[in-house]
Amino acid sequence: MRLVVIGSLNVDYIASVKRLPGPGETVAATGLIRRFGGKGANQAVAAARQGASVSMIACVGNDDAGRSYCSRLRAEGINAAGVTATNRAMTGTALIAVDQAAENSIIVAAGANGELTPAAIRAQEDQIRSASMLLLQFEIPMPTVIEAVRIANKASIPVALNPSPLRDGFPWGKWELDTLIANAGEAQAIFGLPVERLPKTLARWQKTLVRRRISRLIITRGAQSTLCLSAADYLEIPTLKVKPVDTVGAGDAFAGAFAAHRAGGSEVLDAIRYANCAGAMATLKAGAQEAIPNRKLTERSLLTKGQRPPRPNA
Ligand code: RIB
Repeated sequence: MRLVVIGSLNVDYIASVKRLPGPGETVAATGLIRRFGGKGANQAVAAARQGASVSMIACVGNDDAGRSYCSRLRAEGINAAGVTATNRAMTGTALIAVDQAAENSIIVAAGANGELTPAAIRAQEDQIRSASMLLLQFEIPMPTVIEAVRIANKASIPVALNPSPLRDGFPWGKWELDTLIANAGEAQAIFGLPVERLPKTLARWQKTLVRRRISRLIITRGAQSTLCLSAADYLEIPTLKVKPVDTVGAGDAFAGAFAAHRAGGSEVLDAIRYANCAGAMATLKAGAQEAIPNRKLTERSLLTKGQRPPRPNA
């Protein structure tokens, strides 16, 4: 049971601020830390900590940051053989501000992530074809995302897509997606339907799901319950109540944990329970990967919060 994650690796510079700056405004930071980040790597780490066997396909710069990131992935038990190094750009960088309410704003300089080409994906075709699931985001070039989905579809490998950060260019409906994991804003933009009117407008969402060849849509809503829609079902799954310190990477912790449990054979509902818990716990420390829980901590937290513990994987 192997999960392949294709996506970005960034070095995150995280400044704590009293409030996020407005246009043209300078604010003083009360602290600055440097941490490993990037949506792809955050999701790979979240999946590995849930016990999945994870392989990552990505691109770093031929620099110290890139080398230390590869060591970091290996220390997390992630197969980094598919991570290449380029001389054309430096390792991706994210400039992040987090305010006192744990809200954030992020600027990403793609750097080497922008050098992950469709040819690099084709070079790893065997890895994708032998995976139990492929997990992708939108922080790498769109032709690369599309090539990976094409290869997975051809080999009948289920694809989980987290369309973040949302941008144009994905040919919705051309390829089959097993699961689309979106936040409320992303889901609304992709489907052109208001999330807050669910479940009243369920039939319209379901029609669009079928037309776009998406088997399941998961909508994460921060502290509110997670929604899960398919052509046949509609579920609302409560999340853990926590006091967040830093919400950077919470969505990544959700996506990685969900994919790990699905790749391991769990039912959708159980995978969402784990993912809700991982996403909430990831907000408890500064830094995208610092508070992502392992499987044991996730299960302990599910139990103490009185949620039914998911059944062990089949
Ligand atoms: O989703 C959080 C991530 O977005 C950060 O780690 C940052 O690198 C940006 O890619």
